[in-house]
Amino acid sequence: MQMRWLQRLWPAREPSIRAANTADAPALAVVHASSFHIAWDAAEFERLLAERLTRALVATDGPAGPVVGFILTRGVAPETEILSVAVAPRWRRQGLARRLVDGALGRLAAEGYTTVFLEVEEGNGGARRLYERAGFHEIGRRAGYYRTAAGTPASAIVMRRDLT
Ligand SMILES: CC(C)(COP(=O)(O)OP(=O)(O)OC[C@H]1O[C@@H](n2cnc3c(N)ncnc32)[C@H](O)[C@@H]1OP(=O)(O)O)[C@@H](O)C(=O)NCCC(=O)NCCS
Repeated sequence: MQMRWLQRLWPAREPSIRAANTADAPALAVVHASSFHIAWDAAEFERLLAERLTRALVATDGPAGPVVGFILTRGVAPETEILSVAVAPRWRRQGLARRLVDGALGRLAAEGYTTVFLEVEEGNGGARRLYERAGFHEIGRRAGYYRTAAGTPASAIVMRRDLT
């Protein structure tokens, strides 16, 4: 009963996906800081978003709402690489990252990109499952590529997805 009353006051909004622009840089930095132990700042995101080779989507809380997730890719066609994907903690496990990945892959394919690569930390089970479910497969490993939050070395798994 109380739930219905709350829903009338604050109706649930469906997250939306749209292309990112440089004005989103501060919001991307906030989501990134909530998701990784080495944070990229707003200036870094602004530089990346302004680059010709970068493609980026954001997930927002409703069509005009705040940014709650993003995906960034960068590369020269026909190959590109996923640089980062993140969803703010309270929005996780609702299919948002999958929507961002699928949305990015669809747009990249339409632009003529044929191959997408990424690196993911071996111990990041959630991200590995996300990528496997989105059709990526492991093509190699790089020992000691990452440092964990505790400072210990961790391997990167290199994954690939063909878009054709
Ligand atoms: C990884 C991350 C982007 C997933 O975002 P999300 O919106 O929660 O993911 P989704 O809800 O779209 O889930 C997609 C798939 O991944 C699985 N998944 C997501 N998080 C998971 C977790 N913590 N454990 C196990 N599986 C997980 C989902 O179950 C789903 O698989 P399914 O289709 O079989 O159900 C999010 O946890 C995050 O931002 N983490 C910190 C940053 C990060 O690690 N980014 C990736 C770096 S390479």
